[in-house]
Amino acid sequence: MTPALQVRNMSKTFGGVQAIADVSFAVAPGTVTALIGPNGAGKTTLFNLITNLQPATGGTVELFGQPIGALTAEAIAGLGLIRAFQTARVFPGMTVVENVAVGAHRLMQTPGWRQMLAATELPMGAQKLLEVIRALMAAPKLLLLDEPAAGLNDTETAELSAMLSAIRDRGITLLVVEHNMSLVMGLADQIVVLDAGRTVAIGPPAEIRRNRAVIEAYVGREDA
Ligand SMILES: Nc1ncnc2c1ncn2[C@@H]1O[C@H](COP(=O)(O)OP(=O)(O)OP(=O)(O)O)[C@@H](O)[C@H]1O
Ligand SMILES: [Mg+2]
Repeated sequence: MTPALQVRNMSKTFGGVQAIADVSFAVAPGTVTALIGPNGAGKTTLFNLITNLQPATGGTVELFGQPIGALTAEAIAGLGLIRAFQTARVFPGMTVVENVAVGAHRLMQTPGWRQMLAATELPMGAQKLLEVIRALMAAPKLLLLDEPAAGLNDTETAELSAMLSAIRDRGITLLVVEHNMSLVMGLADQIVVLDAGRTVAIGPPAEIRRNRAVIEAYVGREDA
């Protein structure tokens, strides 16, 4: 079966820093892949490369078999690769918000929804869930989420987990950067572990949980 996403030999250097080094993995359609690793491992950078927000130093990305490396971030979004950002900040250039506003024109005419999409006074949990909903309104085939559980309490995290599971059940493929290990272990079909820009392990949760290289990547780190 053609993967929803195929990343091959991705690399990225910032000046002298090798943020991503020869990273390759595939994401099967209709599954959840979690991308984990210590702070600074390169997770957000990899998202930036996949969505072409930043140019890669090397490597290729295919979305459902189609090379997307030469496409703009907007064109990639048009093919169904939709991303929500790590912080609940406003999207650069407002393009996604504008797209959502156009796509959800009738919803936006409803006062309650307009107020929700303005959102700033909502509690963190609701804001994060709203961010996922906002991304869903762009009709993704592949949804990229960067730390959706950051700042959520246990109840909100459980709600998020159920929401992501329901999204997968509807056939939407998910690639999720997340530090919350119980969320990752309970939800992911596959886990890709990055450390210092390199892939240290790829496998199902049960394998990753007892992988020595993964444990070593986290041992002694403040964020472990
Ligand atoms: N625009 C940039 N210019 C220079 N260096 C950068 C840039 N963006 C990221 N880096 C560096 O690349 C490395 C990977 O950073 P990245 O933000 O991708 O990590 P991360 O895994 O998302 O971390 P976190 O878990 O803290 O979000 C870090 O060393 C970071 O300092
Ligand atoms: Mg990050």
